[in-house]
Amino acid sequence: MTAILDRAVCPAPIRPLAPVVGADTTVPTTAGGETVYANLDYAASAPALVSVAERLSGALTEYASVHRGAGHLSQVTTARYEQARETVRRFVGGRSDDTVVFTRNTTDAVNLAAHVTPGDVVVLDIEHHANLLPWTRTGRARVVPAARTVEETVGRLEAELAAAPAALLAITGASNVTGEVLPIGRLAAAAHRHGARILVDAAQLVPHRAVSIASWGIDYLVFSGHKLYAPFGAGVLVGRGDWLDAAEPYLAGGGATADVDLDGGVAWHTGAARHEAGSPNTLGVVALAAAAQALQDIGFEEIGYHEHRLQQRLDEGLALLPGVHPLRVFDDAADRVGIAGFTVENHSPRSVAEYLSVTRGIGVRDGKFCAHPLLRKLGYPDGAVRASFGLGTSSDDVDRLLAALSDLVRR
Ligand SMILES: Cc1ncc(COP(=O)(O)O)c(C=O)c1O
Repeated sequence: MTAILDRAVCPAPIRPLAPVVGADTTVPTTAGGETVYANLDYAASAPALVSVAERLSGALTEYASVHRGAGHLSQVTTARYEQARETVRRFVGGRSDDTVVFTRNTTDAVNLAAHVTPGDVVVLDIEHHANLLPWTRTGRARVVPAARTVEETVGRLEAELAAAPAALLAITGASNVTGEVLPIGRLAAAAHRHGARILVDAAQLVPHRAVSIASWGIDYLVFSGHKLYAPFGAGVLVGRGDWLDAAEPYLAGGGATADVDLDGGVAWHTGAARHEAGSPNTLGVVALAAAAQALQDIGFEEIGYHEHRLQQRLDEGLALLPGVHPLRVFDDAADRVGIAGFTVENHSPRSVAEYLSVTRGIGVRDGKFCAHPLLRKLGYPDGAVRASFGLGTSSDDVDRLLAALSDLVRR
């Protein structure tokens, strides 16, 4: 293992960029005793930032019903909930007239988008199921196979958009399996050239990169709080209001209606309220907005630099391990967020993840990552292993993973 670290490009220690809750949690291992848990599963759910947890505990003491009460705490809670829309809109560089609809998570937000989209949708075959199944089940999805290069993939998408009118191109910002980032500005321009809009599944992008809806030309953007260092699982859809206002409400119920007259009919609200019937996940939304603000305060240059150094260390180390194969969709992706999918020859993904957990206290994800078509396309229909990281990750976490994998492959 020392050899691996000696040859690593970036051997200096890398400290966590921001404190996260539970960073000193210890877990039992087969070596005996307890060890500090190495959380390398941020892409599934990131740990809460300490600053988010503090904001939440403040909000909890003043928590009451949203949009329903004249009481002081209801007013405070409602103001926080509504303020969160503005914080989120600024976080993703939204236009001033964009609608910000809070949802349960990214999956819910894409389903909402599918509910309001008035036509065909072009998607790639590398998507997380959340940005695939809501479209395919409408019967209006046109699935384009990704090519070996980003360049050729952009060309294929543009050809499909040109071949027949489509309402929308729905595409991931960053792959949840490989971390590869797609050129969203170029894809937005391509969609618009052919009269389509673009929706970006930014679940894996917004925790790592600054995003600008307005300057990249994005029409709709969706993501989840729990991947953005915010617990309580709220999600969001930000984007143009016209399709949202023209569609039937996503959920029927209280809060979505201006007036209900059993003889005269129902007058539905326009705007976000139209699609947010029922009592919302207020604390989830407060947490999501607090996390968005915290990331902006830290700054994406710092975040990108931190993750780049960890990524380099991990990639260099994995490349030295015999039988370890990194997953890539593209040969020419210009950027990757803090996600590394890989396989280990002669070891099932589950056995690798279990070994890392029980012998070293390291948490990674194994399986097909809700992206079965992509795993099949990459030649690993039985799945792979994924290490993912972020603000609370140190080089020690990465080195522990490399040392454990080194021992595993040499056994
Ligand atoms: C790229 C991508 N899109 C969508 C989702 C779904 O997110 P959620 O489970 O929060 O709905 C995930 C979750 O892993 C994801 O990685």
